[in-house]
Amino acid sequence: MPIIVGNNTADAELFLSVSSAGTSVVHTLDELRRALAEAPEEHAVVLGPGVDLEAAAALADNLRVTRPAVSVILMRRRVDSSVLAEALKSGMRDVVEERDLTGLGEAIKRAHQVYRAVTAPGDRADDAPNGRLVTVFSPKGGVGKTTVAANLCVALAARHLRVCLVDLDLGFGDVAITLQLVPARTIADAVTLESDLDFAVLEPLLTSHRSGFSTLVAPAQPDGMEPIRGPQVSRILAVLKRSFDYVVVDTSPAFDEPALQAFDETDELLLVTTLDVPTLKNVKIACETLDLLGFPKSRRHLVLNRADDKVGLSPDKVETTLDMRIAQAIPTSTEVAKATNAGDPITASHPRHPVSRAVNRLADTVMGVRSASATPVDVHSAAEVRSRPTGARRAAPKRGLLRRAGK
Ligand SMILES: Nc1ncnc2c1ncn2[C@@H]1O[C@H](COP(=O)(O)OP(=O)(O)O)[C@@H](O)[C@H]1O
Ligand SMILES: [Mg+2]
Repeated sequence: MPIIVGNNTADAELFLSVSSAGTSVVHTLDELRRALAEAPEEHAVVLGPGVDLEAAAALADNLRVTRPAVSVILMRRRVDSSVLAEALKSGMRDVVEERDLTGLGEAIKRAHQVYRAVTAPGDRADDAPNGRLVTVFSPKGGVGKTTVAANLCVALAARHLRVCLVDLDLGFGDVAITLQLVPARTIADAVTLESDLDFAVLEPLLTSHRSGFSTLVAPAQPDGMEPIRGPQVSRILAVLKRSFDYVVVDTSPAFDEPALQAFDETDELLLVTTLDVPTLKNVKIACETLDLLGFPKSRRHLVLNRADDKVGLSPDKVETTLDMRIAQAIPTSTEVAKATNAGDPITASHPRHPVSRAVNRLADTVMGVRSASATPVDVHSAAEVRSRPTGARRAAPKRGLLRRAGK
């Protein structure tokens, strides 16, 4: 049960009213440390508005290493960007405004989910060599695949995870341009590499983005590129999965060879749709193709981009047509393209923007931490800065359902 550090009675009573029975209140950080030592199964610590920010950050920094299953939730009278930056740096999971008791309740709920994910038996087997691979796919172009992939990378990297974005849209890949990267090398350079590919060979081909993740981009001029064969894609992804916590794959709008190979390695598939009939029809057909390929439904997550576009189709209709729950809705905003044009995904440049909040909740889903709700347009008031421990949850062993010949 959460332990709350509150140094005045009124605050403490307020917190208790949103928290569950069994919550305890202490008055100082020393008392908190003693209480934690006696509570090996603790999942959340709430630091009230009276707790000094520097001391709170030092505590969070320490707990991140010594007790990764414990989420630190910071309450502040006002949440501004300097508080958020400090919280992000020290690894706090949530920052909530003092008056936002709904936000606090939700943060505590999420802390419990993180605890369960982190401590789930079998999830952190030492011999599990792999990071997780997230493929962002849609059978339509222009629906936001690259936008979702790039922003998701920002959100995951902000949680101190090692992240690599791979552009498998080899014909028209625009990860590099979306992130305004000037890559020295591209995936085309990997094509000529021999089969004994390892990370030492691949690393020089990666380009870093200033938000803290790596990319393996597609060549700007695909024409001269030697066609990349399926087994090479597989090998590249397998090597990256061993070296990163998350490999996020952006795809072309087709079931082409690179996409099919990526599906083989995919732990979570983000299927992007928008509220228009042609896209919906194509996504429906794509779902049927995924059924034929044997891609498990449990690993598919529907992302409704531009969820608030008023085009006559409702999110409900999308869910019933596809017989799938919307895992995350992302609103429309002109700020998305503006941020891209400035070279920073919106999640990096405007972390409190509704689009960024939605992306952060998508990151929760990807990490196996279910959102409390998936309303069409995300309006949750809890702060969006949430750090998760490295490798919060590992994938179950791959079943190899899509293993294709020739690998
Ligand atoms: N939620 C959104 N709100 C506003 N514009 C968006 C949103 N998502 C994507 N866009 C814009 O739509 C265009 C296509 O997005 P992109 O990610 O390149 O699609 P895809 O990779 O599926 O072809 C880009 O100009 C992008 O900035
Ligand atoms: Mg794209």
